[in-house]
Amino acid sequence: MTYPLIDSTQAVSTRHPDVVIIGAGASGLMCAATAAKRGLNVLVLEKANKVGKKILMSGGGKCNFTNYDVRPEHFISQNPHFCKSALSQYTQWDFFSLVNEYAIEWEERKHGQLFCRHSAKDILNMLLAECQQQAGSVSIKTRQQIEQITYADGLFLIDTETQQIRSKQLVIATGALSIPTLGGSGFGYQLAQQFQLPLVPRRAGLVPFTFTDQLKHLCSTLSGLAIDVGARCGEAYFRENLLFTHRGMSGPVALQISNYWQPGQAIELDLLPEQNASDLLLQAKQQQAKSGLKALLSPLLSKKLVRELLEMYWPEYQDKSLAEIPDKRLMKIADSLNRWQIKPADTEGYRTAEVTLGGVSTEAVSSKSFVCKHQPGLYFIGEVLDVTGHLGGYNFQWAWSSGYACGTHLMLD
Ligand code: FDA
Repeated sequence: MTYPLIDSTQAVSTRHPDVVIIGAGASGLMCAATAAKRGLNVLVLEKANKVGKKILMSGGGKCNFTNYDVRPEHFISQNPHFCKSALSQYTQWDFFSLVNEYAIEWEERKHGQLFCRHSAKDILNMLLAECQQQAGSVSIKTRQQIEQITYADGLFLIDTETQQIRSKQLVIATGALSIPTLGGSGFGYQLAQQFQLPLVPRRAGLVPFTFTDQLKHLCSTLSGLAIDVGARCGEAYFRENLLFTHRGMSGPVALQISNYWQPGQAIELDLLPEQNASDLLLQAKQQQAKSGLKALLSPLLSKKLVRELLEMYWPEYQDKSLAEIPDKRLMKIADSLNRWQIKPADTEGYRTAEVTLGGVSTEAVSSKSFVCKHQPGLYFIGEVLDVTGHLGGYNFQWAWSSGYACGTHLMLD
């Protein structure tokens, strides 16, 4: 499909747009479509050669576009109330209706996650189609290198390599640092600093863990194995699959808990989330005294994992029957199974992180319209802000909701 609204030539029509949006990702496109629906003429400047790269790569190419269950508790921010207004102005049901209006086939997966049945392209095409059929207009310029932005006499002056564009309203929708090859950039933070907006420290989120201790070897040996575990870090708890990889630990539970992990902290894994391991081992000692830990635990945890755990932590019991293991020792082993303390060395960082935690402080921005409180005409939306969702379609919902809320509050000249 081709879209006449996207153009990679340098020339921008001389007519002043009502608003310039920087970044043609999830939130920028939603904002553009919403504003144009109200009659605004919108100019979107995108640095990449294509628009919506993260949408296309998301959810393994199927885009987990929202979730049936969206609540403020699914978002992390220094101000946990900030997300409420936008999420109620544009809900998951609103986006879901739009998807259905375009007859996009979708499917529900675990935990209410909604994915495209065929391709993430359907979502991007829908957003571009929305940008095209409006009262106002949307023009998207790709391959735009923005050199500087200044503000004078109520106008933003946006200097690209070839020209200066003027606009009373400027929306920053440049996303965050994750995956530089998909457009991740620090542009929004630099601009925020230029306009003296506070920043919340940033770090990679929804990201796999790496290890340098003996767990490095264990993970690499078990690479490819997935098990259902509970993971706790501070107050946060998730129950999901853990995936061992050559580099460390990944899978949904590792990604979810990474949002709550600080370097140096331990994570507690419950390898038997359905059972009290103490009861299990002591009962088994009574009822099948001759069998060993390997035979008892392998059907529950996989042979490979049990072999590695025995070698690493309890080598003296590898070939012993349960009857030969003192109760006190069995209870210690059980405790390790229900509360395995692991200490990641680090995460894989922005190279593979799905999101960036922290960002432009919500203190500086209106939660209703996303305009900066001390800089008229300047708006920040999407992931550049200090709002990060859990895994499960929440980050796109934040992009849709913040993009829509901003689009409805932009001024018509
Ligand atoms: P987004 O990153 O979408 O867009 C920012 C745009 O700004 C990009 O097009 C970028 O090129 C452009 N830009 C940056 N700097 C610029 C500059 N200086 N000048 C001009 N343009 C500039 N979430 C979810 O809910 N469900 C999912 O399935 C997934 N899956 C997923 C997979 C992968 C691999 C990643 C990396 C991320 C996800 N996410 C996700 C997260 C989701 O993609 C992300 O939160 C949103 O895309 C954020 O939307 P934004 O509009 O804020 O930024």
